[in-house]
Amino acid sequence: ENWTTDLRYKKYNAWDSTYLSALTEKVNAAPWRLQYHIQPTSGLLNDPNGFSYFNGKWHLFYQAYPFGPVHGLKSWAHMTSTDLVHWEYEGIPLVPSNEYDSHGVYSGSALPIEDKLFLMYTGNVRDADWNRSAFQLGAWLDQEGQLTKMTKPLIETDTTQYTHDFRDPQIFNYGNTYLAIIGAQDTNKQGRVAVYQSENSHDWHYLGNLTYTDLPMGYMVECPNLVFIDEQPVLLFCPQGMDHSLLDYQTIYPNAYVLGSRFNKETLTIENPTTLQNLDEGFDVYATQAFNAPDGRALSVSWIGLPEIEYPTFSDGWAHCLSLVKELSIKDGHLYQFPVVETQTLRQNEISFKGQLLSSGQQLLENASFSYELELELPKDERGELKLFADEDAARYLSLSFDTISGKLTVDRTLAGVPFAEEFGNTRSITIPRHEALKLSIFVDHSVCEIFINNGLKVITLRLFPAANQTQLWLSGSGKGSYQGKFWELLSQ
Ligand code: FRU
Repeated sequence: ENWTTDLRYKKYNAWDSTYLSALTEKVNAAPWRLQYHIQPTSGLLNDPNGFSYFNGKWHLFYQAYPFGPVHGLKSWAHMTSTDLVHWEYEGIPLVPSNEYDSHGVYSGSALPIEDKLFLMYTGNVRDADWNRSAFQLGAWLDQEGQLTKMTKPLIETDTTQYTHDFRDPQIFNYGNTYLAIIGAQDTNKQGRVAVYQSENSHDWHYLGNLTYTDLPMGYMVECPNLVFIDEQPVLLFCPQGMDHSLLDYQTIYPNAYVLGSRFNKETLTIENPTTLQNLDEGFDVYATQAFNAPDGRALSVSWIGLPEIEYPTFSDGWAHCLSLVKELSIKDGHLYQFPVVETQTLRQNEISFKGQLLSSGQQLLENASFSYELELELPKDERGELKLFADEDAARYLSLSFDTISGKLTVDRTLAGVPFAEEFGNTRSITIPRHEALKLSIFVDHSVCEIFINNGLKVITLRLFPAANQTQLWLSGSGKGSYQGKFWELLSQ
């Protein structure tokens, strides 16, 4: 397929229906499809949108372009769940249809209001010269699943303050009003987070820019999300073009966060913010969406994929996936992220391990399949290596080398499978506590791997594209310490 701009922006109803069914059939037969992660039925998935709880179910939408693995005319695909783990595909209810969203129904959020779910999103419009306009729009989803778009924009871009790179509204309750934060580029080409307020969800007024750092946040901020954990604000956002001296990241664009002591609504300030942190230390996380759920938890879900990077599934007609749903918490002043407890319902066929680390290495499992959870406790004052996705002669594997003496963990995907995105590096290293035991919780699903370090204090997420024989698990060390762990197959049926 030659994905010209015309083809990418062809209207959904102008596509022949046999095209989509043939593509879906091809995608269903492809390797590297996932067992328990949300993935597109065909074409491309990007940002999670509208994560919410409404009418007795969890709702999660995602940015979709169903006709091919490219960034084309975007819409919202809809998933529902009763347990945050098993998701039902509900089709694509929100598609471009008018002068305010003609070139894409872009990212946004959702909030239950009275007996409906209110969706707030960005309409992307291009003129004949491909100049962009952005509109913040609203729609209502009723309890029968009927979606009605509002006819007028909620917010038009104030071009005295911002360019039309102005998108991804997050609406949330604040006291007895609504606030929305919006990713923005100001007229000086600086990345900003704009704040708006409404008393009724349709009349919005501008409050100003959010203050959460003194540093320049690149040229654009995408997908800002503000959640509260025991009153403490956590801002998750994606600054584009950040200076590497201000945040150490190796991906094309980072997904970052700051944690504050308090949100001051009068001054629009996140007080006492931490320095900027990477939300994920891996290779492929972007556009994480978080919200305060009615059950009291702060929940998040990430896009596992990045813009402007070619992935090996493109030739199979699909691209990208979402992460597991993670619960956010704060302990000792640090943000933790860990798959929600409901994820444990996927566990089958538990195996326990225990033993001494050997310098020659030892096989933990010969046939780990491609869908499992591995929990490992590794000793303090040791150096060693865990090999996931290893083949019989260890020519291919994903390497995790740990050093609890100097306090370092390195993930290396050089030999893990079909190479991709190598210009952004094949390894990621993080610091871990020195002279302390290390706990790894690893969720593997065919071509995605989510690694949670010490109960989620740090997270390393990555895609990888292994061959069918890469099913072995190996562990080695210097021979001093011992390890223990558990393994479960994860099955979503
Ligand atoms: C982030 C993003 C958003 C935008 C959406 C379009 O990945 O660029 O800023 O709303 O994707 O699909």
